[in-house]
Amino acid sequence: MDPSSWLADLRDSAAARESAGLRRRLQVRQPGSDMIDMAGNDYLGLARHPAVIGAAVTALHEYGLGATGSRLVRGTTAAHAELDQALAEWLGAEKALVYSSGYLANLGAIRALVAPETLVISDAYNHASIVDGCRATRAPVAITKHLSLVDIESQLIQAAAQARPAVVLTESIFSVDGDLAPLADLHRLTRSYGARLLVDDAHGCGVIGPAGAGGVAAAGIAGEPDVIITMTLSKSFGAAGGVVAGPAELIRHLIETGRTFIYDTGMPPAVAAGARAALDVIAAGDDLRAELHDRGRRIVSVLSAAGLDVSEPRGGVLSVLAPSPDAALAWAAACRDRGIAVGCFRPPSTPDGSSRLRLTINVGVARAEFEHALDVIRETAP
Ligand SMILES: Cc1ncc(COP(=O)(O)O)c(C=O)c1O
Repeated sequence: MDPSSWLADLRDSAAARESAGLRRRLQVRQPGSDMIDMAGNDYLGLARHPAVIGAAVTALHEYGLGATGSRLVRGTTAAHAELDQALAEWLGAEKALVYSSGYLANLGAIRALVAPETLVISDAYNHASIVDGCRATRAPVAITKHLSLVDIESQLIQAAAQARPAVVLTESIFSVDGDLAPLADLHRLTRSYGARLLVDDAHGCGVIGPAGAGGVAAAGIAGEPDVIITMTLSKSFGAAGGVVAGPAELIRHLIETGRTFIYDTGMPPAVAAGARAALDVIAAGDDLRAELHDRGRRIVSVLSAAGLDVSEPRGGVLSVLAPSPDAALAWAAACRDRGIAVGCFRPPSTPDGSSRLRLTINVGVARAEFEHALDVIRETAP
């Protein structure tokens, strides 16, 4: 048997993706690049904030580059412990625990909430890390129509009829269209059936809620014993890492049994210190949030006046429909050629199968550059 025959299979599937307009390539970003960012998740421009960089550089000198071990072994520095504590206070949760990524935080939290007999109820548009978290539990999973309380309730009724515990999984602001789950109503519903609610607040934290504390805080359900928050530090914090926040018993359970916490090297201490500094800027950042929401309204008004189908942003994410995967790709390339970085989402990243540009707002981009980017997106539309 030819030892490289499996590579021919990979080439065939690459060719199939290419002809379906689904080729993906890495875009290398150079230092000092003057591309205007309408694609990243650095909503508040904190990745380059002087206080954030200063705190990270100090910790880099104090602790060195890596955490040197899992958080249970040598990987919890004072920077990590302070960040755990400060995040819990800010989110309004009893305790919080920092992971090396949001992806692992979701896998760990979902695993902790789900026993084999649990019914997992998950929104159809939930992020891949939630989907993978569900799959890893091997428990039954019901996928509900996007933002459908009716669908969720019918699953809760079924779980109750079978005497199964239930867990409902949702994002707060969804990562592709930027729409917002009705979290207060959802919590009333889950509570009435004795189910637990996990909210991935990745795109809400920093941009909505009191002091930017996210969608859960905005809905007034933070600190409830049946509410679990996951989030990432890779978006409005401009850093990297993930967080699970909730009751003290859950956090203890994760520290003592959570595989994606225990068997993973801790986040680099410099990142923890930078994220801690970012939290101070976020909590005091009502002006940054006001600018972000103003830019969101501006994008909708300019692009919808040009006849484009644009989603209503609740935070820093929105999407503009393209007629086909190829058209979305060509549109993104035309923007890039004119110095604007935009996201291009095609199947399978788009749950409804429609391709689009995914635009994000970074208030670290000067307003004049933002306006220019908007002109380019409009002028290059298919
Ligand atoms: C909703 C959501 N959850 C989780 C993640 C994963 O976070 P991380 O990039 O820190 O792994 C992301 C994005 O990356 C996300 O958009």
